[in-house]
Amino acid sequence: MVEEEYRFPEGFLWGAATAAYQIEGAWEADGKGPSIWDTFCRQSGKIKDCSSGEVADDHYHRWAEDIDIMAGLGLQAYRFSIAWPRIFPKGFGRINTAGLDFYDQLVDALLAKGIQPFPTLYHWDLPQALQEIGGWANREIAYHFAEYARAVVERLGDRVANWITHNEPFVMALGGYYSGDMAPGVQDPMAAMHAGYHLILSHGLAVDVIRSTARIPVQVGITLNLNPVHPATDSEQDRLAARRFDGVLNRLFLDPVFKASYPEDIVALLGPFFPEIRPDDLQCMAVPLDFLGINYYTRTVMRHDPNFPIIEASEVHSEGNEYSQMWEIYPEGFHEIITRVWNNYKPAKIIITENGIPVPDGVDFDGRVRDERRIRYVRDHLKQVHRAISEGVPVKGYFHWSLMDNFEWALGYTMRFGLVYVDYTTQQRIIKDSGRWFSQVIRDNGFEG
Ligand code: FCB
Repeated sequence: MVEEEYRFPEGFLWGAATAAYQIEGAWEADGKGPSIWDTFCRQSGKIKDCSSGEVADDHYHRWAEDIDIMAGLGLQAYRFSIAWPRIFPKGFGRINTAGLDFYDQLVDALLAKGIQPFPTLYHWDLPQALQEIGGWANREIAYHFAEYARAVVERLGDRVANWITHNEPFVMALGGYYSGDMAPGVQDPMAAMHAGYHLILSHGLAVDVIRSTARIPVQVGITLNLNPVHPATDSEQDRLAARRFDGVLNRLFLDPVFKASYPEDIVALLGPFFPEIRPDDLQCMAVPLDFLGINYYTRTVMRHDPNFPIIEASEVHSEGNEYSQMWEIYPEGFHEIITRVWNNYKPAKIIITENGIPVPDGVDFDGRVRDERRIRYVRDHLKQVHRAISEGVPVKGYFHWSLMDNFEWALGYTMRFGLVYVDYTTQQRIIKDSGRWFSQVIRDNGFEG
Protein backbone atom coordinates (compact mmCIF):
# COMPACT_ATOMS: atom_id res chain seq x y z
CA MET A 1 0.00 0.00 0.00
CA VAL A 2 1.28 3.44 -0.90
CA GLU A 3 1.55 5.68 2.14
CA GLU A 4 -0.40 8.90 2.01
CA GLU A 5 0.91 12.23 3.15
CA TYR A 6 -0.92 14.13 5.83
CA ARG A 7 0.53 17.63 5.91
CA PHE A 8 -1.21 20.25 8.01
CA PRO A 9 -1.66 23.88 7.01
CA GLU A 10 1.16 26.24 7.78
CA GLY A 11 0.77 27.68 11.25
CA PHE A 12 -1.22 24.71 12.53
CA LEU A 13 -0.63 24.66 16.27
CA TRP A 14 0.61 21.51 18.01
CA GLY A 15 0.34 21.14 21.76
CA ALA A 16 -0.53 18.99 24.73
CA ALA A 17 -2.99 19.47 27.56
CA THR A 18 -3.27 18.91 31.32
CA ALA A 19 -5.50 20.13 34.16
CA ALA A 20 -4.53 21.54 37.54
CA TYR A 21 -6.08 18.95 39.86
CA GLN A 22 -4.82 16.09 37.72
CA ILE A 23 -1.14 17.04 37.84
CA GLU A 24 -0.27 19.72 40.38
CA GLY A 25 -0.51 18.01 43.76
CA ALA A 26 0.43 20.47 46.54
CA TRP A 27 -3.19 20.54 47.50
CA GLU A 28 -2.69 22.88 50.45
CA ALA A 29 0.50 24.69 49.50
CA ASP A 30 0.97 28.44 49.79
CA GLY A 31 -2.49 29.32 50.97
CA LYS A 32 -4.55 27.22 48.57
CA GLY A 33 -8.07 26.48 49.79
CA PRO A 34 -9.70 23.06 49.43
CA SER A 35 -11.53 22.24 46.21
CA ILE A 36 -14.53 20.00 45.67
CA TRP A 37 -12.10 17.33 44.42
CA ASP A 38 -10.11 17.45 47.66
CA THR A 39 -13.35 16.79 49.48
CA PHE A 40 -14.73 14.21 47.05
CA CYS A 41 -11.57 12.08 47.08
CA ARG A 42 -11.81 11.75 50.85
CA GLN A 43 -15.25 10.16 50.67
CA SER A 44 -14.99 6.42 50.62
CA GLY A 45 -15.89 4.57 47.44
CA LYS A 46 -15.66 7.56 45.13
CA ILE A 47 -12.24 6.97 43.55
CA LYS A 48 -11.50 3.58 42.05
CA ASP A 49 -8.06 3.10 43.59
CA CYS A 50 -8.88 5.17 46.70
CA SER A 51 -6.35 7.76 45.60
CA SER A 52 -6.52 11.54 45.24
CA GLY A 53 -4.74 14.40 43.53
CA GLU A 54 -2.97 15.42 46.73
CA VAL A 55 0.41 14.65 45.19
CA ALA A 56 -0.43 13.60 41.62
CA ASP A 57 2.55 14.47 39.38
CA ASP A 58 3.85 16.99 41.89
CA HIS A 59 3.91 19.42 38.99
CA TYR A 60 3.54 22.32 41.43
CA HIS A 61 7.14 21.68 42.45
CA ARG A 62 8.43 20.15 39.21
CA TRP A 63 7.03 22.60 36.68
CA ALA A 64 10.47 23.68 35.47
CA GLU A 65 11.46 20.11 34.60
CA ASP A 66 8.07 19.59 32.95
CA ILE A 67 8.50 22.67 30.80
CA ASP A 68 11.94 21.40 29.76
CA ILE A 69 10.26 18.18 28.65
CA MET A 70 7.67 20.14 26.65
CA ALA A 71 10.42 22.15 24.99
CA GLY A 72 12.34 18.97 24.22
CA LEU A 73 9.25 17.55 22.53
CA GLY A 74 8.96 20.72 20.50
CA LEU A 75 5.46 21.61 21.74
CA GLN A 76 4.29 24.91 20.33
CA ALA A 77 1.50 25.37 22.85
CA TYR A 78 0.53 24.05 26.26
CA ARG A 79 -3.00 23.90 27.61
CA PHE A 80 -3.16 23.82 31.41
CA SER A 81 -5.77 24.92 33.89
CA ILE A 82 -5.67 27.38 36.73
CA ALA A 83 -6.83 26.18 40.13
CA TRP A 84 -9.46 28.64 41.32
CA PRO A 85 -8.90 27.71 45.00
CA ARG A 86 -5.24 28.73 44.70
CA ILE A 87 -6.33 32.23 43.68
CA PHE A 88 -9.39 32.57 45.92
CA PRO A 89 -9.11 30.02 48.76
CA LYS A 90 -12.72 30.77 49.71
CA GLY A 91 -13.99 31.24 46.15
CA PHE A 92 -14.14 35.04 46.30
CA GLY A 93 -13.02 37.94 48.47
CA ARG A 94 -9.37 37.92 49.45
CA ILE A 95 -6.91 37.10 46.64
CA ASN A 96 -4.10 34.70 47.51
CA THR A 97 -1.20 36.27 45.62
CA ALA A 98 1.01 33.21 46.08
CA GLY A 99 -1.44 31.30 43.88
CA LEU A 100 -1.10 33.88 41.13
CA ASP A 101 2.68 33.81 41.52
CA PHE A 102 2.71 30.12 40.62
CA TYR A 103 0.97 30.65 37.27
CA ASP A 104 2.92 33.83 36.65
CA GLN A 105 6.25 31.98 36.74
CA LEU A 106 4.79 29.10 34.73
CA VAL A 107 3.67 31.47 31.97
CA ASP A 108 7.01 33.27 31.91
CA ALA A 109 8.89 29.98 31.64
CA LEU A 110 6.64 28.76 28.82
CA LEU A 111 7.04 31.99 26.87
CA ALA A 112 10.79 31.91 27.38
CA LYS A 113 10.81 28.53 25.62
CA GLY A 114 8.54 29.73 22.83
CA ILE A 115 5.55 27.70 24.04
CA GLN A 116 2.18 29.49 23.86
CA PRO A 117 0.21 29.23 27.10
CA PHE A 118 -3.47 28.23 26.73
CA PRO A 119 -4.90 28.48 30.25
CA THR A 120 -8.34 27.09 31.02
CA LEU A 121 -9.92 28.99 33.88
CA TYR A 122 -12.09 26.16 35.10
CA HIS A 123 -11.29 22.48 34.79
CA TRP A 124 -13.60 21.19 37.54
CA ASP A 125 -11.86 22.16 40.79
CA LEU A 126 -14.40 24.53 42.33
CA PRO A 127 -13.41 26.02 45.70
CA GLN A 128 -15.16 23.90 48.34
CA ALA A 129 -16.41 27.07 50.03
CA LEU A 130 -18.57 27.76 46.96
CA GLN A 131 -20.01 24.26 47.06
CA GLU A 132 -21.20 25.06 50.58
CA ILE A 133 -23.55 27.59 49.01
CA GLY A 134 -24.77 25.21 46.31
CA GLY A 135 -21.88 25.23 43.85
CA TRP A 136 -22.82 25.62 40.20
CA ALA A 137 -26.48 25.07 41.04
CA ASN A 138 -26.40 28.54 42.58
CA ARG A 139 -26.53 31.43 40.10
CA GLU A 140 -24.29 33.54 42.32
CA ILE A 141 -21.34 31.32 41.40
CA ALA A 142 -21.43 32.66 37.84
CA TYR A 143 -20.62 36.15 39.14
CA HIS A 144 -17.86 34.85 41.39
CA PHE A 145 -16.40 33.10 38.36
CA ALA A 146 -16.29 36.37 36.44
CA GLU A 147 -14.46 38.03 39.35
CA TYR A 148 -12.02 35.13 39.50
CA ALA A 149 -11.42 35.55 35.74
CA ARG A 150 -10.74 39.23 36.33
CA ALA A 151 -8.14 38.55 39.02
CA VAL A 152 -6.31 36.06 36.83
CA VAL A 153 -6.35 38.22 33.71
CA GLU A 154 -5.26 41.27 35.69
CA ARG A 155 -2.11 39.32 36.55
CA LEU A 156 -1.47 37.38 33.32
CA GLY A 157 -3.32 39.43 30.73
CA ASP A 158 -0.22 41.34 29.63
CA ARG A 159 1.35 38.12 28.24
CA VAL A 160 -1.28 35.43 27.68
CA ALA A 161 -2.97 35.68 24.28
CA ASN A 162 -5.31 32.66 24.42
CA TRP A 163 -7.93 31.91 27.05
CA ILE A 164 -10.42 29.10 27.60
CA THR A 165 -13.22 29.74 30.05
CA HIS A 166 -14.54 26.25 30.80
CA ASN A 167 -13.66 22.65 30.20
CA GLU A 168 -16.55 20.33 29.33
CA PRO A 169 -19.50 21.92 31.13
CA PHE A 170 -21.54 18.83 30.21
CA VAL A 171 -19.32 16.60 32.37
CA MET A 172 -19.22 19.13 35.19
CA ALA A 173 -23.00 19.51 35.24
CA LEU A 174 -24.07 15.93 34.57
CA GLY A 175 -21.18 14.05 36.20
CA GLY A 176 -21.01 16.41 39.14
CA TYR A 177 -24.68 17.05 39.83
CA TYR A 178 -26.72 14.29 38.14
CA SER A 179 -24.88 10.95 38.17
CA GLY A 180 -22.63 12.10 41.00
CA ASP A 181 -19.67 10.14 39.61
CA MET A 182 -17.58 13.28 39.75
CA ALA A 183 -17.15 15.96 42.40
CA PRO A 184 -19.17 17.34 44.08
CA GLY A 185 -21.08 14.03 43.84
CA VAL A 186 -24.58 15.51 43.91
CA GLN A 187 -27.41 13.42 42.42
CA ASP A 188 -30.21 15.79 41.58
CA PRO A 189 -31.54 16.45 38.05
CA MET A 190 -32.66 19.93 38.99
CA ALA A 191 -29.23 20.86 40.32
CA ALA A 192 -27.63 19.42 37.17
CA MET A 193 -29.73 21.52 34.81
CA HIS A 194 -29.15 24.62 36.90
CA ALA A 195 -25.42 23.90 36.95
CA GLY A 196 -25.31 23.51 33.16
CA TYR A 197 -27.11 26.81 32.74
CA HIS A 198 -24.97 28.72 35.21
CA LEU A 199 -21.76 27.34 33.74
CA ILE A 200 -22.67 28.77 30.34
CA LEU A 201 -23.86 32.02 31.88
CA SER A 202 -20.56 32.33 33.73
CA HIS A 203 -18.74 31.65 30.47
CA GLY A 204 -20.49 34.58 28.81
CA LEU A 205 -19.75 36.90 31.73
CA ALA A 206 -16.11 35.83 31.82
CA VAL A 207 -15.52 36.34 28.09
CA ASP A 208 -16.38 40.03 28.46
CA VAL A 209 -14.21 40.35 31.54
CA ILE A 210 -11.24 38.67 29.84
CA ARG A 211 -11.48 40.93 26.80
CA SER A 212 -11.84 44.12 28.77
CA THR A 213 -9.11 43.25 31.29
CA ALA A 214 -6.42 41.87 28.97
CA ARG A 215 -3.69 44.28 27.92
CA ILE A 216 -2.77 42.51 24.67
CA PRO A 217 -5.09 41.26 21.88
CA VAL A 218 -6.65 37.98 23.02
CA GLN A 219 -8.45 34.99 21.57
CA VAL A 220 -11.13 33.58 23.85
CA GLY A 221 -13.05 30.32 23.61
CA ILE A 222 -14.74 27.51 25.48
CA THR A 223 -14.00 23.79 25.40
CA LEU A 224 -16.91 21.39 24.90
CA ASN A 225 -16.83 17.60 24.83
CA LEU A 226 -18.77 16.67 21.72
CA ASN A 227 -19.48 13.31 20.14
CA PRO A 228 -21.76 11.90 17.54
CA VAL A 229 -24.63 10.02 19.14
CA HIS A 230 -25.76 7.04 17.07
CA PRO A 231 -28.84 4.85 17.50
CA ALA A 232 -28.23 1.20 18.40
CA THR A 233 -30.60 0.06 15.59
CA ASP A 234 -32.56 1.84 12.83
CA SER A 235 -35.78 1.55 14.80
CA GLU A 236 -37.70 4.78 15.20
CA GLN A 237 -37.52 4.39 18.98
CA ASP A 238 -33.75 4.07 19.04
CA ARG A 239 -33.37 6.98 16.66
CA LEU A 240 -35.44 9.18 18.93
CA ALA A 241 -33.49 8.00 21.97
CA ALA A 242 -30.22 8.92 20.25
CA ARG A 243 -31.67 12.30 19.30
CA ARG A 244 -32.65 12.99 22.92
CA PHE A 245 -29.22 12.14 24.22
CA ASP A 246 -27.61 14.20 21.46
CA GLY A 247 -29.70 17.09 22.73
CA VAL A 248 -28.35 16.79 26.24
CA LEU A 249 -24.74 16.06 25.33
CA ASN A 250 -24.20 18.37 22.37
CA ARG A 251 -26.99 20.82 21.64
CA LEU A 252 -27.69 21.81 25.26
CA PHE A 253 -24.28 23.52 25.22
CA LEU A 254 -23.73 24.39 21.56
CA ASP A 255 -27.10 26.11 21.08
CA PRO A 256 -26.85 28.69 23.86
CA VAL A 257 -23.18 29.41 23.05
CA PHE A 258 -23.71 29.85 19.30
CA LYS A 259 -27.41 30.52 18.79
CA ALA A 260 -28.54 32.26 21.99
CA SER A 261 -31.24 29.63 22.48
CA TYR A 262 -31.95 26.27 24.07
CA PRO A 263 -32.96 23.32 21.87
CA GLU A 264 -36.75 23.08 21.84
CA ASP A 265 -36.94 19.30 22.15
CA ILE A 266 -34.76 19.41 25.26
CA VAL A 267 -36.71 22.25 26.81
CA ALA A 268 -39.86 20.21 26.19
CA LEU A 269 -38.26 17.22 27.89
CA LEU A 270 -36.35 18.86 30.72
CA GLY A 271 -38.20 22.17 31.05
CA PRO A 272 -39.32 21.57 34.65
CA PHE A 273 -35.68 21.22 35.72
CA PHE A 274 -34.52 24.42 34.04
CA PRO A 275 -33.85 27.58 36.01
CA GLU A 276 -35.68 30.75 35.05
CA ILE A 277 -34.19 32.15 31.84
CA ARG A 278 -33.73 35.84 32.60
CA PRO A 279 -34.05 38.33 29.73
CA ASP A 280 -30.38 39.10 29.07
CA ASP A 281 -28.97 35.68 29.84
CA LEU A 282 -29.14 34.20 26.36
CA GLN A 283 -27.40 37.17 24.77
CA CYS A 284 -24.70 36.96 27.41
CA MET A 285 -24.18 33.23 26.84
CA ALA A 286 -23.85 33.73 23.09
CA VAL A 287 -21.12 36.36 23.17
CA PRO A 288 -19.14 35.86 19.92
CA LEU A 289 -16.07 33.68 20.43
CA ASP A 290 -12.70 33.59 18.75
CA PHE A 291 -12.63 29.80 18.77
CA LEU A 292 -14.44 26.69 19.89
CA GLY A 293 -12.37 24.04 21.65
CA ILE A 294 -13.49 20.48 20.95
CA ASN A 295 -12.54 17.48 23.07
CA TYR A 296 -13.09 14.19 21.27
CA TYR A 297 -12.50 10.64 22.47
CA THR A 298 -15.32 8.40 21.26
CA ARG A 299 -18.89 8.26 20.02
CA THR A 300 -21.99 7.30 21.98
CA VAL A 301 -24.46 4.61 20.91
CA MET A 302 -27.90 4.81 22.52
CA ARG A 303 -31.04 2.69 22.61
CA HIS A 304 -34.56 3.35 23.79
CA ASP A 305 -34.80 2.38 27.45
CA PRO A 306 -38.01 3.12 29.37
CA ASN A 307 -36.31 2.14 32.62
CA PHE A 308 -34.08 5.18 32.45
CA PRO A 309 -36.06 8.08 33.89
CA ILE A 310 -36.90 11.17 31.81
CA ILE A 311 -34.53 10.68 28.92
CA GLU A 312 -35.58 7.04 28.39
CA ALA A 313 -32.34 6.15 26.70
CA SER A 314 -29.29 4.21 27.71
CA GLU A 315 -25.89 3.58 26.27
CA VAL A 316 -25.03 0.29 24.59
CA HIS A 317 -21.72 -1.37 23.97
CA SER A 318 -21.51 -1.40 20.19
CA GLU A 319 -20.28 -4.54 18.45
CA GLY A 320 -17.46 -4.72 16.00
CA ASN A 321 -15.12 -1.91 17.01
CA GLU A 322 -12.13 -2.05 19.26
CA TYR A 323 -12.40 -0.58 22.74
CA SER A 324 -9.71 1.13 24.78
CA GLN A 325 -9.71 0.69 28.56
CA MET A 326 -12.44 3.34 28.69
CA TRP A 327 -14.19 3.88 25.39
CA GLU A 328 -14.97 2.63 21.90
CA ILE A 329 -12.30 3.67 19.40
CA TYR A 330 -14.14 5.44 16.62
CA PRO A 331 -11.97 7.84 14.59
CA GLU A 332 -14.61 8.56 11.90
CA GLY A 333 -16.75 10.19 14.58
CA PHE A 334 -14.12 12.90 14.92
CA HIS A 335 -14.64 14.01 11.33
CA GLU A 336 -18.38 13.66 11.73
CA ILE A 337 -18.61 15.92 14.77
CA ILE A 338 -16.15 18.52 13.49
CA THR A 339 -17.99 18.94 10.19
CA ARG A 340 -21.38 18.93 11.84
CA VAL A 341 -20.37 21.66 14.28
CA TRP A 342 -18.90 23.67 11.44
CA ASN A 343 -22.00 23.32 9.26
CA ASN A 344 -24.52 24.02 12.00
CA TYR A 345 -22.76 26.58 14.17
CA LYS A 346 -19.97 28.16 12.12
CA PRO A 347 -17.53 28.92 14.96
CA ALA A 348 -14.86 31.45 13.92
CA LYS A 349 -12.37 28.60 14.20
CA ILE A 350 -11.98 25.24 15.89
CA ILE A 351 -9.13 24.07 18.06
CA ILE A 352 -8.94 20.46 19.19
CA THR A 353 -8.28 20.93 22.89
CA GLU A 354 -8.19 17.21 23.83
CA ASN A 355 -7.89 13.85 22.13
CA GLY A 356 -6.11 10.77 23.38
CA ILE A 357 -6.36 7.21 24.65
CA PRO A 358 -5.68 5.35 27.90
CA VAL A 359 -3.15 2.56 27.44
CA PRO A 360 -1.90 0.21 30.19
CA ASP A 361 1.65 1.35 29.63
CA GLY A 362 4.63 -0.21 31.35
CA VAL A 363 8.34 0.46 31.29
CA ASP A 364 10.29 -2.22 29.41
CA PHE A 365 13.58 -3.76 30.59
CA ASP A 366 15.49 -1.19 28.55
CA GLY A 367 13.63 1.76 30.06
CA ARG A 368 11.42 2.38 27.05
CA VAL A 369 7.63 2.68 26.99
CA ARG A 370 6.40 1.12 23.75
CA ASP A 371 2.90 2.52 23.44
CA GLU A 372 2.28 1.55 19.83
CA ARG A 373 -1.50 1.57 20.42
CA ARG A 374 -1.44 5.28 21.32
CA ILE A 375 0.52 6.16 18.20
CA ARG A 376 -2.01 4.34 16.06
CA TYR A 377 -4.92 6.04 17.83
CA VAL A 378 -3.48 9.52 17.39
CA ARG A 379 -2.54 8.88 13.77
CA ASP A 380 -6.02 7.60 12.92
CA HIS A 381 -7.65 10.56 14.64
CA LEU A 382 -5.34 13.14 13.07
CA LYS A 383 -6.27 11.74 9.66
CA GLN A 384 -9.87 12.63 10.42
CA VAL A 385 -8.89 16.15 11.46
CA HIS A 386 -6.89 16.45 8.28
CA ARG A 387 -9.89 15.30 6.25
CA ALA A 388 -12.08 17.98 7.81
CA ILE A 389 -9.45 20.64 7.12
CA SER A 390 -9.14 19.57 3.50
CA GLU A 391 -12.91 20.00 3.18
CA GLY A 392 -12.52 23.60 4.32
CA VAL A 393 -13.19 23.46 8.06
CA PRO A 394 -10.93 25.92 9.92
CA VAL A 395 -9.36 23.59 12.48
CA LYS A 396 -6.31 25.52 13.68
CA GLY A 397 -4.65 23.34 16.28
CA TYR A 398 -4.48 20.02 18.10
CA PHE A 399 -3.69 19.44 21.78
CA HIS A 400 -2.99 15.90 22.80
CA TRP A 401 -4.52 14.67 26.06
CA SER A 402 -2.32 14.43 27.91
CA LEU A 403 1.21 15.72 28.22
CA MET A 404 1.86 13.20 30.98
CA ASP A 405 0.12 10.42 32.90
CA ASN A 406 -2.01 11.83 35.68
CA PHE A 407 -4.92 11.50 38.09
CA GLU A 408 -7.86 10.42 35.94
CA TRP A 409 -10.66 11.69 38.23
CA ALA A 410 -12.90 8.89 39.57
CA LEU A 411 -10.58 6.32 37.98
CA GLY A 412 -7.59 7.57 39.97
CA TYR A 413 -4.21 6.47 38.66
CA THR A 414 -5.58 3.40 36.86
CA MET A 415 -5.53 5.13 33.46
CA ARG A 416 -2.45 6.44 31.69
CA PHE A 417 -3.06 9.03 28.97
CA GLY A 418 0.36 10.68 28.71
CA LEU A 419 2.91 11.14 25.97
CA VAL A 420 5.20 11.06 28.99
CA TYR A 421 5.15 8.22 31.50
CA VAL A 422 5.11 9.13 35.19
CA ASP A 423 6.43 6.76 37.85
CA TYR A 424 4.29 7.79 40.81
CA THR A 425 6.72 6.46 43.41
CA THR A 426 9.79 8.30 42.20
CA GLN A 427 8.10 11.03 40.10
CA GLN A 428 10.45 10.08 37.30
CA ARG A 429 9.24 11.13 33.84
CA ILE A 430 9.97 8.95 30.78
CA ILE A 431 9.12 10.05 27.27
CA LYS A 432 7.05 7.30 25.68
CA ASP A 433 7.44 6.15 22.08
CA SER A 434 4.28 8.14 21.35
CA GLY A 435 5.98 11.26 22.71
CA ARG A 436 8.86 10.81 20.29
CA TRP A 437 6.48 10.09 17.45
CA PHE A 438 4.36 13.16 18.22
CA SER A 439 7.47 15.28 18.41
CA GLN A 440 8.37 14.18 14.88
CA VAL A 441 4.83 15.00 13.71
CA ILE A 442 5.31 18.51 15.06
CA ARG A 443 8.67 18.90 13.33
CA ASP A 444 7.23 17.68 10.02
CA ASN A 445 3.87 19.41 10.51
CA GLY A 446 2.29 16.09 9.60
CA PHE A 447 3.11 12.48 8.87
CA GLU A 448 2.93 9.72 6.32
CA GLY A 449 0.69 6.82 7.06
C1 FCB B 1 -11.77 14.66 29.59
C2 FCB B 1 -11.27 15.61 30.66
C3 FCB B 1 -9.81 15.42 30.99
C4 FCB B 1 -9.44 13.95 31.03
C5 FCB B 1 -9.89 13.25 29.76
C6 FCB B 1 -9.50 11.80 29.69
O1 FCB B 1 -13.14 14.51 29.74
O2 FCB B 1 -11.45 16.93 30.25
O3 FCB B 1 -9.56 16.07 32.20
O4 FCB B 1 -9.95 13.37 32.17
O5 FCB B 1 -11.28 13.37 29.64
